[in-house]
Amino acid sequence: MSDITILGIFVADISFLGDKIPVSGETILGDDYNIGPGGKGCNQAIAISRLGGKVNFISKLGRDEYGELALSKLRKDNIDTSDIVISENHKTGVAGIHIDRNTGKNAITVIRGAPSSLKVKEINIDKIKKSKVFLTQLEVPLDVTLHCLKVAKDNGLTNILNPAPACELKKEFFELVDYFTPNETEAEFYSGVKINNEIDAKKSANKLLKMGIKNVIITLGEKGVFFSNGNEEIYIKAIQAKAIDTTGAGDAFNGSFTLALVKGKKIRECLEFANKVAGLSTTRLGAGDSMPILKEL
Ligand code: RIB
Repeated sequence: MSDITILGIFVADISFLGDKIPVSGETILGDDYNIGPGGKGCNQAIAISRLGGKVNFISKLGRDEYGELALSKLRKDNIDTSDIVISENHKTGVAGIHIDRNTGKNAITVIRGAPSSLKVKEINIDKIKKSKVFLTQLEVPLDVTLHCLKVAKDNGLTNILNPAPACELKKEFFELVDYFTPNETEAEFYSGVKINNEIDAKKSANKLLKMGIKNVIITLGEKGVFFSNGNEEIYIKAIQAKAIDTTGAGDAFNGSFTLALVKGKKIRECLEFANKVAGLSTTRLGAGDSMPILKEL
């Protein structure tokens, strides 16, 4: 039985590594490419499983080549795929990712494919009910996300929402969430506070706490991570790593944080662990493919 259930998307990430991210109308010659698992939910599931956690992944795929790739990659990483819906009418999604190898920064277009048609009636809630933590993002339709958050809350789970990509949310979402984990851009979207440093992160977190969220974790990229629950505040600096591709670093953080929380670790330990896993993931190309295993830490 899985302690953690994740709702999210799989897409095949097609990543291009080059000296820069091309601008509109420009052609550049790149250095390397990778075709591998992507989608925030999928990456988070891989992160958890590679670190020794048991995870159930709820998603939707097309019956096609990338759908096969998804199932073989997820099963190889020991992820429970039995609640993944296979669609006869939709394609598995893809993401096109340009990466600047000097900074590791990227530009991404995601075509979600099958999971954009996911319906509440297609979700098997049995394994959510038996899990301890429910982790999700904002890449599947919002009514499905809200439904699953409610089922999880009604059954006593801890809900973690990685609000990415940022979009308008009903107040209900914030009340159902135990841990809200935006990056700095997303935190700005929800709080209206532009984040340049730790003080801004604190201001932003305070606004988010006032919206009914219990615990706020703002990932700050190369500046680290900030946590607040209104009583306790923790700031942790990012680990020094030679980043070549930051795609999926937020997912490495969310997955490993969730696993540490399930294991009963204290909040500071969870944040430190996740910070380390995220840093390590940036040193290699790919998103799902860049997730480390426990003995590398
Ligand atoms: O968080 C990174 C992920 O976002 C990529 O794998 C891409 O597919 C998008 O979903």
